[in-house]
Amino acid sequence: TPLHLIRNFSIIAHIDHGKSTLADRLIEACGALTAREMKGQVLDSMELEQERGITIKAQTVRLTYPAKDGNIYTLNLMDTPGHVDFAYEVSRSLAACEGSLLVVDASQGVEAQTLANVYQAIEADHEIVPVLNKIDLPAAEPERVRNQIEEVVGIPADETVDISAKTGLNIEGVLEALVHRLPPPKGDAEAPLQALLVDSWYDTYLGVITLVRIKEGRVKKGDRIRMMQMGATYHVDQVGVFHPKMTPVDSLGPGEIGYINAAIKAVADCNVGDTITLDNRPAEKALPGFKPSVPVVWCGLFPINADDFEKLRNSLAKLRLNDASFHFEAETSAALGFGFRCGFLGLLHLEIIQERLSREFNLDLIATAPSVVYILHHSDGTVEELHNPADMPDLSQVAHIEEPWIKASIMVQDDYLGPVLTLCTERRGVQLDLTYVGNRAMAVYRLPLNEVVFDFYDRLKSLSRGYASFDYQMDGYEESNLVRISILVNHEPVDALSFVAHRSAAETRGRAICAKLKELIPRQLFKIAIQASIGSKVIARETLGAMSKDVTAKCYGGDISRKRKLLDKQKEGKKRMRQFGKVEIPQSAFLAALKMD
Ligand code: GTP
Repeated sequence: TPLHLIRNFSIIAHIDHGKSTLADRLIEACGALTAREMKGQVLDSMELEQERGITIKAQTVRLTYPAKDGNIYTLNLMDTPGHVDFAYEVSRSLAACEGSLLVVDASQGVEAQTLANVYQAIEADHEIVPVLNKIDLPAAEPERVRNQIEEVVGIPADETVDISAKTGLNIEGVLEALVHRLPPPKGDAEAPLQALLVDSWYDTYLGVITLVRIKEGRVKKGDRIRMMQMGATYHVDQVGVFHPKMTPVDSLGPGEIGYINAAIKAVADCNVGDTITLDNRPAEKALPGFKPSVPVVWCGLFPINADDFEKLRNSLAKLRLNDASFHFEAETSAALGFGFRCGFLGLLHLEIIQERLSREFNLDLIATAPSVVYILHHSDGTVEELHNPADMPDLSQVAHIEEPWIKASIMVQDDYLGPVLTLCTERRGVQLDLTYVGNRAMAVYRLPLNEVVFDFYDRLKSLSRGYASFDYQMDGYEESNLVRISILVNHEPVDALSFVAHRSAAETRGRAICAKLKELIPRQLFKIAIQASIGSKVIARETLGAMSKDVTAKCYGGDISRKRKLLDKQKEGKKRMRQFGKVEIPQSAFLAALKMD
């Protein structure tokens, strides 16, 4: 396709404002799929995505649109995820496009992630076409939301396109705006190849597939490509585009988005953000690439069956290929054996990866309590990152500890503002700003990430009946009065349950966790103490009563020696249990114990 007939765009929006529905309508309108193939939400293909109704991975599709001006345009659409945890995927899609459709729900208006996404799009030099969706709803207020977009986003109100993605109203208006308002890509087909590696994944039949955006030059079957970062070279077996099914083409040129299949063996050679060039005529410079993603939450993943360790390693490597924001390293735990410490962008991300491992790779896993990354300043002047609360040394060896903070923007209706501010204060938040956008308040807070990671988002949603929206970015480290709380079950520390908390919250949280564990651990034949401690000092305790099984009940009176014998035997049994037997802690306890309510 000639450059002037190509348009590359992303769809950005706050969660649930209708991105995926609009994407489906665009695909349908361009006839890429027959009605029969068009089973709602084609782009949300991962089983998990369909079940949860959210987009996790950015998806791509090439469309053909005969416009009113008589030209036939090629449109490359990149759907993007909406949840804060997946902001990294968004930034990558944006780098592959020249423009964005900004979808705003006409009954809800601008939300925290609408703003966050717009800032990202502006940073990526995008032309933005605002789309007002859901105007079929009786509660839609297009006039008010148009003005809101003008006021807070700075896009003139008369430039918005009003649609209903659900009924299909004015989808053509979106397509016309795309071809006339977004700029075509630039690039020189004769220049040395520069292809941006946007994403890659593992296909059971074809091996590693890479999704690329060609900036300069051309790539075709039979070429020898070179990954600029690692220097590895591969023979190209196939190049193609997404219709949305993978469809081979002769070559990919400037401005095009498609895939390269090159029988890549070493997963490590495919770094997202890398530049692919031709081995016999390499580009002088690599493209700028992406900001590396930094995991903010870590937890341990251990196979329940120790024989699954290698399988887990391979599965993690495959997932990592498809998700550059996910990190892992080998780890051992006294209680759980060999496993991996894994880094995630947030709790939802953690849950998704855990579920994918069990569904797609059939692995039974135990996840340990999630933790943020602390910075330890040792007394001898050395500095160390702490990913695992179990590794926290004795406080006497540590000069001080720093914890990560975030800057959070929360938007909420005036009616719910009070409880939301209280929640922020409870979580050691510091208010930076409080402004109004119509009847919605926008509060900007600095908060310790530690206080946000576990259940802040859930709490915020329930306090505001689902109306509050939330977005955050990392905002540096600060010294803090932190302690490690160990959890002892039956006087044995369970390293996988230890966690770090602010000194002021340690007792409350220790008590809450002991109480919760009492509910979660099934009764055993003997009494169990559940304790929380800081160092050797116990700060909370619960006792789980024994299952009653009175062996003497069988003996009727009289024979005291026989009774004693039996009692002694039972005592021995109890001892053995304590000494050798393990208390079975159900896997659900590891995450549940840390959620406060
Ligand atoms: P994520 O992928 O999770 O970020 O969500 P999304 O923005 O893709 O939202 P999605 O397309 O899944 O739509 C969210 C909900 O809004 C779904 O229940 C849709 O059926 C509904 N919806 C989307 N567009 C319209 C519309 O024009 N009118 C009405 N009434 N409902 C709509």
